[in-house]
Amino acid sequence: MRGWTKAGWRSMPRVQMPDWPDAAAVTGVEARLARFPPLVFAGEARTLTRALGQAAEGRAFMLQGGDCAESFAEFTADTIRDTFRVLLQMAVVLTFGAKVPVIKVGRMAGQFAKPRSSPVEVMGGVELPSYRGDIINGFDFTPESRLPDPARMLQAYTQAAATLNLLRAFSTGGFADVHRVHAWTLGFAEGEKAARYREISDRISDALDFMSAAGLNAETSHELRTVDFYTSHEALLLEYEEALCRIDSTTGLPVAGSGHMIWIGDRTRQPDGAHVEFCRGVQNPIGLKCGPSLSTDDLRLLIERLNPDNVPGRLTLISRFGAGKVADHLPRLVRTVRESGARVLWVCDPMHGNTIKSASGYKTRPFDLVLREVREFFAVHEAEGTIPGGVHFEMTGKDVTECTGGVRAVTDENLSDRYHTACDPRLNASQALELAFLVAEELTRRRRGLAARAAV
Ligand code: PEP
Ligand code: CO
Repeated sequence: MRGWTKAGWRSMPRVQMPDWPDAAAVTGVEARLARFPPLVFAGEARTLTRALGQAAEGRAFMLQGGDCAESFAEFTADTIRDTFRVLLQMAVVLTFGAKVPVIKVGRMAGQFAKPRSSPVEVMGGVELPSYRGDIINGFDFTPESRLPDPARMLQAYTQAAATLNLLRAFSTGGFADVHRVHAWTLGFAEGEKAARYREISDRISDALDFMSAAGLNAETSHELRTVDFYTSHEALLLEYEEALCRIDSTTGLPVAGSGHMIWIGDRTRQPDGAHVEFCRGVQNPIGLKCGPSLSTDDLRLLIERLNPDNVPGRLTLISRFGAGKVADHLPRLVRTVRESGARVLWVCDPMHGNTIKSASGYKTRPFDLVLREVREFFAVHEAEGTIPGGVHFEMTGKDVTECTGGVRAVTDENLSDRYHTACDPRLNASQALELAFLVAEELTRRRRGLAARAAV
């Protein structure tokens, strides 16, 4: 990309980034990170771009999910396994509905930095800097903990590397073998959705048995034994992103080595800002969060800047308006994209527009609103004749009580039982599966509608 350097963002206006108290310490950490191996390789990022290009055309569907913020304290193999397992389960349900490949992308192995609505937090009359994610400062409400500490970037890198190592092992080492589709359900095996999941698993097992009996290599097929799993995070902390940026030896082009896909948050998408500047120059697939304040003029500019060559799969627009507001905003953005001739992948994030403060004081998301935003997203795309190509969730494999509602009916009073998130409220495993069923229903309806129209 002409006129781009990996440090170019430094001369652009930046928001949501920390004021480091010790500039020399930051430089030292950046130099160390710059010598470390990248976490992902450019060829993988290109493969993901191609896959997302398929999703943009309706020939695949993207499932992106994981923590709002990964944390140093919650870093265990079990946590990673449980999130991975729920994503596999959701993918099974979605594949059944969509009848196209589901591209699995974790908000994992790098999702550490958080934009905040206020730079300070006040508690009991004491004002301190806000928590900005474990890669920047600590969650504890003390002056020491809230001081930005660049050494945290090294710990985040180490945790991301170990997480990715485990994810790669799970993806290819047997855990994700579709023959184990029944085993993924262990841990939350009750309830109506679990029964429906078992029904789908039974049908998959039958299909696999049939393939084996017919001599179709179901036992040894690489496609059935392994999954492609990708990582993603918000490219918010640009010192970290720049330090892990590398030149891809195959193409000679820059690549963000911090994760397969990176996205630009709703608060940092200023067309002339630092975050857009960094992201425009790396060849990874880029996500762009689209909230109610995104103007059509800015969207046009952002598309030009982020995907000047109109490469399919390069740009994913992740809409997050809030239930009841999708019809007010998505149609104008869809039409802007159509008029510009841009090829984009449309994805729905039904989490970030639906955050409220519960009566008990916890930040929560009513599950009904989450479901409603997904339905509204599908309805707008149906009306506009465009393609709903994926979903983006904050979820965990743990049985947390952070979002209210769902078949197991988490109430306001229950929120304090197991409220563990380091930032926004996540869907628990059962709610995530329920949501996957809803999306699968929408995809099935869409598929049948298209088939019926084609038959006329
Ligand atoms: C997020 O995805 O965690 C986030 C902060 O989203 P948004 O930028 O859409 O608010
Ligand atoms: Co969040």
